[in-house]
Amino acid sequence: MNLRSVLLFAACAALMAANLYAAEPAGTKKLSEVYFTHDISPEGLMKAYKALGRPLEGKNVAVKISTGEAGNNHYLQPSLIGPFVKSLKGDIVECNTAYAGSRMKTKDHRETIEDHGFNAIAKVVIMDEFAETELPTPKGSAHLKSDLVGAALTNYDGFVILNHFKGHQMGGFGGALKNLSIGCASSRGKSRIHTANRTDDLDKMWSKIGETPQKDFIESMAEAAGAVVNFMGDKAVYISVMNNISIDCDCNGHPAKPEMADVGILASLDPVALDKACVDLVYASDPQKSASLRARMEKQLGPHILDHAEALGYGTRSYKLISLDNNEPPSTKRMELGEEMKKTYDPAELPENWSPIPVGEPNDAYAEYFIGKSYLYPLTTEQVPSFGVTFEPSCRNNWHIHHAKTGGGQILIVTAGEGYYQEWGKPARKLAKGDTVNIPANTKHWHGAAPDSWFQHIALEVPGEGNSNEWLEPVDDSTYLKATTENEEKEVKNGIAVVYYSWSPDGNTRFAAETIAKKVGADIFEIKAEKPYSSDFRTCCDEAQPECRGKKQRAILPIEGLKFENYSLVFIGSPNWWGTLAPPVRTFAEKNLEELKGKKVCLFQTHGGGGMQNLGRDFAEIFGDKATVLTPKAFTGSSVRQSVEELEKFAAERAEN
Ligand SMILES: Cc1cc2nc3c(=O)[nH]c(=O)nc-3n(C[C@H](O)[C@H](O)[C@H](O)COP(=O)(O)O)c2cc1C
Repeated sequence: MNLRSVLLFAACAALMAANLYAAEPAGTKKLSEVYFTHDISPEGLMKAYKALGRPLEGKNVAVKISTGEAGNNHYLQPSLIGPFVKSLKGDIVECNTAYAGSRMKTKDHRETIEDHGFNAIAKVVIMDEFAETELPTPKGSAHLKSDLVGAALTNYDGFVILNHFKGHQMGGFGGALKNLSIGCASSRGKSRIHTANRTDDLDKMWSKIGETPQKDFIESMAEAAGAVVNFMGDKAVYISVMNNISIDCDCNGHPAKPEMADVGILASLDPVALDKACVDLVYASDPQKSASLRARMEKQLGPHILDHAEALGYGTRSYKLISLDNNEPPSTKRMELGEEMKKTYDPAELPENWSPIPVGEPNDAYAEYFIGKSYLYPLTTEQVPSFGVTFEPSCRNNWHIHHAKTGGGQILIVTAGEGYYQEWGKPARKLAKGDTVNIPANTKHWHGAAPDSWFQHIALEVPGEGNSNEWLEPVDDSTYLKATTENEEKEVKNGIAVVYYSWSPDGNTRFAAETIAKKVGADIFEIKAEKPYSSDFRTCCDEAQPECRGKKQRAILPIEGLKFENYSLVFIGSPNWWGTLAPPVRTFAEKNLEELKGKKVCLFQTHGGGGMQNLGRDFAEIFGDKATVLTPKAFTGSSVRQSVEELEKFAAERAEN
């Protein structure tokens, strides 16, 4: 990629950020101030706090952070926040979690807090250790009348909501609003938020979560956060640190490695503006590296929390980013890149021998159906009308259909550069010189250049009866970026998928799956039961036993993004349940027999001491001679994290097979 291409790509992302989650134009509303520094250090944190002009020294201050699940080391480190917390003589405050793990029970939570080094910098108060209290949600709340928070919250008269901004499995992202809502809620309060008021009973939470529309959950978080914001009033400051930006939250004991670079520290008196600025900075960062996080945020409707929070009136998405670094703040930089994006490329810069077909004239007649500039060179208008079409980098045509009663459609022959072709509902196909595309009649599709390359193809109009073209909506930036980045991701993979089910909070099978996938560069997919098993071990055992004994299926959720045609080898991971496959794994294998036909399948399992038991046999029985079943392997669950070498050896050997 040359510099110009890099700028273009960055600009593309910047524009996307602007388009998707644009701060409202200045002048329409009062802008909240958000301070920014690149300096992720104790000094940077202090600088961000001081900029807010709301001193809390001398007050009884609570600093609300996430202390991080055991096994996670992405949380805000005591070495980073210690000097700041000490300067305020504040208490660190937290609440117990609602999921089984190292912080669900106060005793375990205290151990994790000690292990993570927080006792060394402050007194740590678990706000819901003894009691909870009820705070009214803002007027206009659609789901929650009140929020149940750890009672100790009300002991303080100064608050620092100190957030680690990163992705979140359920909320899409976690920043200030997540810390205020789920973070301050008691266990019952968390159940209430997660289920949009369906239950306060933790035992029923997981089943009710299944019934709760994602949008309602996101809105409930905004409502609960509003309850806490309104309670704290002008006694609170909000600070977010954008470092270790994994797609997974600090509540995950085995988070994905961060792909994005660290960004900086942001501070505001408006938590909505603060989260909005963080989200925008994700969208303005390297589009390849932020792709997974953006995908997660969008899939979980994460940014919708900002719309709802603003509608509830306790903050605004309209903000002004103010740099504390004696240079331009990132938002200004994004605007400059945006200007760069508006520049067109000059085809005269293309090398002479770039293509045997001339670029031709600007395609003005059809400009309204293209994003970016394209050029047309008529080759022949007789017999089979044929044109050379040249696209500048990132230029693409709108979705369109070549209608025909019989025959019809179009053939593309790529003559230079790199581009993409995508049919509606399918992944995009990357194109290079010499590729041909047969576009069937009556099929909605688009084609165009790669983000960083000129592209040229010949378009042949296939004769037919009743030929006509229908131009449809433009291929918006997010569709285009998704199509082009997804394709690139796939290219580096080598046709191996790892599909697994894992139930316990330790995630033994998940760990094995991740290790295998990493070793062989495979895509990884999780099987999830439509109705999750109880999170209580004994109840889960009771639920699973008749299913396992009867070799019954347990309905599973569709696995997003799993396209069997991309893989020739599929590793399938299961915990050992009652000596056989966990029922969701059986369901996956039995339901996808046709898709897995002719492929290699390989079982790996983790167990609690029983070893392979009947899993290998039952697995092979399902596939019969439909697939090539490779030799399975069992790993001891409790020591799976010490078995990395063995897992890698297994993965590499089976992949070579
Ligand atoms: C319902 C249930 C049944 C189990 N049955 C067995 C068993 O028959 N044999 C065995 O060795 N382990 C058994 N275990 C233990 C799990 O196989 C083991 O802890 C595994 O590593 C958990 O994987 P996970 O963390 O991915 O869920 C069982 C666990 C559960 C929850």
